[in-house]
Amino acid sequence: DVLDHVFSKEEKIVTVAHRGASGYAPESTLASYRLGIRMNADYIEIDLQETLDGELIAMHDETVNRTTNGSGRVKSLSLDEIKSLDAGSWFNEKHQIYAREEYVNEKVPTLREIFEAFGKDTRYMLEVKSPEENPGLEEKMWALVTEFDLADHIAVQSFSKESLLKIREWDTDVPLFQLLWYSRPAYISDTRLQEISGYANGIGVNFLRINESFVHKVKNAGLLMYPYTVNYQLNMDKALKWGVDGVHTDYPDRFKEVIEEL
Ligand code: G3P
Ligand code: CA
Repeated sequence: DVLDHVFSKEEKIVTVAHRGASGYAPESTLASYRLGIRMNADYIEIDLQETLDGELIAMHDETVNRTTNGSGRVKSLSLDEIKSLDAGSWFNEKHQIYAREEYVNEKVPTLREIFEAFGKDTRYMLEVKSPEENPGLEEKMWALVTEFDLADHIAVQSFSKESLLKIREWDTDVPLFQLLWYSRPAYISDTRLQEISGYANGIGVNFLRINESFVHKVKNAGLLMYPYTVNYQLNMDKALKWGVDGVHTDYPDRFKEVIEEL
């Protein structure tokens, strides 16, 4: 069980389906999340944004331009407007080997719809995106988590320490992950690690900039290490040899294969 792992530090390697099984299906849609669950991912990862009328939806970008047939900022569009968009056809055009007729006219899901669809069948790695753009997003997210009684099926990640601190105030047990992104070889000071250990359970960091000693440093600080977004088995294998606790991947089945060969 993932949370047993988090709390007891048992050796369980965690698979996070990044935006669902987004290598195989249009990211952040029910189709992508369903596939992630079918591939036995431990978590489905969900980037949250708020619409003009204050609904929480799953979408990575701040505009709908890349992942739908529409255009405009999420914040400037109502849920009705966003629901009228096709969030699947772009995938079929871009990834023809995985294109499927059923992805045409796939809709952008709300967080409520995702919880309704999957309930306690999975765990959810919720990402508070751009909190400065979406004030109050954390409160709305947590209200839904409570309404669906899912507090023990949730982890929260964010680049924003303030967002994570809010969640920690409301729940002392929910696993929290501080996200970091490096444009150069990753370095983290002992002071920063200590600070993060004070409120979070782990770190998510871009895989391409880390190395074995970075992983060891984070682990020695008592933090879990889930690099993102690891899509090739060569890198998955490398990450495991360095001692990571899990990875974010668009291809959960590939990571499962690598774990099984351990
Ligand atoms: O899952 C970690 C990762 O999601 C952070 O980056 O840009 O894919 O949200 P991004
Ligand atoms: Ca994300």
